[in-house]
This record gives sequence, structure tokens and C-alpha cells, in this order.
Amino acid sequence: MLRRNFLTLMAGTALVAVARPAFAELPKIQKKDTYKVGFAQTESNNPWRIAQTKSMQDEAAKRGWQLVYTDAAGSAAKQVADVNSMIAQGVDAIFLAPREEKPLIPAVMGAKKAGIPVILLDRNVDPSLAKPGEDYVTFIGSDFIEEGKRAAEWLTKTMNGKASIIQLEGTTGSSPANDRAKGFADYIKDHPDMKIVASQSGDFARDKGRQVAETLLQAHPEATAIYAHNDEMAIGAISALEAAGKNPGKDVIIVSIDGTRDALQAIIDGKMGATVECSPFFGPAAFDTLVKYAAGETIPPKIINTDRFFDAANAKENLASAY
Ligand code: AHR
Repeated sequence: MLRRNFLTLMAGTALVAVARPAFAELPKIQKKDTYKVGFAQTESNNPWRIAQTKSMQDEAAKRGWQLVYTDAAGSAAKQVADVNSMIAQGVDAIFLAPREEKPLIPAVMGAKKAGIPVILLDRNVDPSLAKPGEDYVTFIGSDFIEEGKRAAEWLTKTMNGKASIIQLEGTTGSSPANDRAKGFADYIKDHPDMKIVASQSGDFARDKGRQVAETLLQAHPEATAIYAHNDEMAIGAISALEAAGKNPGKDVIIVSIDGTRDALQAIIDGKMGATVECSPFFGPAAFDTLVKYAAGETIPPKIINTDRFFDAANAKENLASAY
């Protein structure tokens, strides 16, 4: 029996009706020497994304697999179209880094309907609308809630439990923005003098982060800390603080997430306090997982990366290997 739940979802500006064949099986993939696989990237406007793409391209080249690469340029609607084009090109499997949780559901379901397995990389889709082991093979990535918690823990300790915090959120509706906010909020709720005084999206982008930080700093001159959901926005916030005549790292303490070269340099320069690593190096794990899936091995619903933590104690020694 085929039960159909019709989901109406926003994909960019278009309303899309999706049939969810709840009991249809997860597509299988044949065991072969080489594959033609798709990698649907969300955007390429920051070092993290560029490092992730390079890791996927390097791994494909190493194994002699054909990689169909697309860049959605920050548009969920384009990313859905990119996945549809991969389906039309007859790829064996699709690696998808879904820009936002809900709008990419039609892409996951479309691939499933076409019999093409999907592996989610780094970002997740809404777990109430699509499930690992049923609609897609697995999610490979960091624990974003834990990242938010680690950032909050460091900041609470550094600020002796008292701070007026500006939060620069990532892309609205994306799993890292949702979960990094949650992990941070969950931790500071037990510390009543750690207060978020303002919170707004900087879309994970440096210049947007700078603009939003500028506005929020004007409205909240009492801010003593900034929590940015990624390093690019943290670097933007440093520029905003300097433009406002403040001393980043002294007047306002900054903590963020990723571990980029620019962030490590800012820590060495004393302008940033710490960054929780979120590794962009997915190539080996992504391709290995597909090979295991093709061999009939049981794949866990989530494969979580182990991430490091960078602060003044270790930024210098890790600078050369950063991206
Ligand atoms: O999904 C991971 C996040 O997306 C990274 O923190 C960020 O830099 C990227 O754009």
C-alpha cells in the first residue's frame, strides 16, 4: 500500500506540492568500480564552502569517479533545480548540502522517486518531513547543537558568567543556524547574567555580518560579547567594531564557529577569542559511505564529525594547516 502525504513547501518563491511515498524503499545502488555522482553545493561565497567543494573534487579525482558539481549561489530554488538536473543526467547518487531545512525536501523526495540515493552533507533537512534510512541514506556532518553549546561554555567561562551578547545568526531556516542558536541558548539559560540582547541573521556572509553587527552595535552599545554562527560573520563583526571605535578582543569578546585561517589569524592578533571547529573536509567520509552502502552494509542514520576547538592556546600551531 502506498500512503501519500502531500506536503506543500516553499522552494525559494515557488510553492511546490510533494507526494511523500511513505513506504517506498530507499533506492539501492549497484556495486561498481567507479560512479557518476552529483554534489549539489549551496553557495561558494566563503572559505568553508570552497574547502568543502575542493575536498569533494579531490576525492572524486583520487578515485577516478565522475563528479557532477553544481553551485546554487545561495538560492534554495536553484539548488532544487540543480538536483533535478542531476536526476535528468542519470547520476548514480547525489551528495546534497541542503541550504535550508524545508525548501530542499522536494529535492530529496524527487531523487528518491527517481531511484537515486541521496547522502546529506553538513546540513540537514527537516526531520519531520524526510528521514534517514527511508528518504535519504544518512546525514554526515557536525553536531551543530554541540557547537553552539561549546561556544557558550567558552564565553561563559571567559566572561565570568556575565555578558550582554549580540548573536549573528546564520542563514534563516538552515539547520546550522537553528541548532547553533539552540545549543547556545540551552547552555546560557542556567547562567542568568549571560543575556542575548540582540539577535539577527547575517546569512553566514562576511559583509552581511558586518552590516548587521554595525546596526546592532548602534542599538546596543552596552554589548560586551558577540556570538557569530560562523567565522565569516565574526570577521565582519571585527570590522564593524573597529569602525565604531571599539577594540575587538578587549571591549567586546568574539566567539564563533568554523576554524578558518582568517579566524585563527584574528585569534593570534587578539581580535577574536575562540572558534569551535566545524570541519568542511567531507570527501573521504562521503565517498566511503557510498561505497559501504553499495556493498550492502548498514549505514547509521547520522555520521558525526569529530571537531576541535581553537583559542589563543593553539591557534598559531594550527594556522598553517587551516583553509
Ligand atoms: O553548514 C555549515 C556552515 O555553512 C558553516 O559554518 C558556514 O561557514 C557555511 O556556510
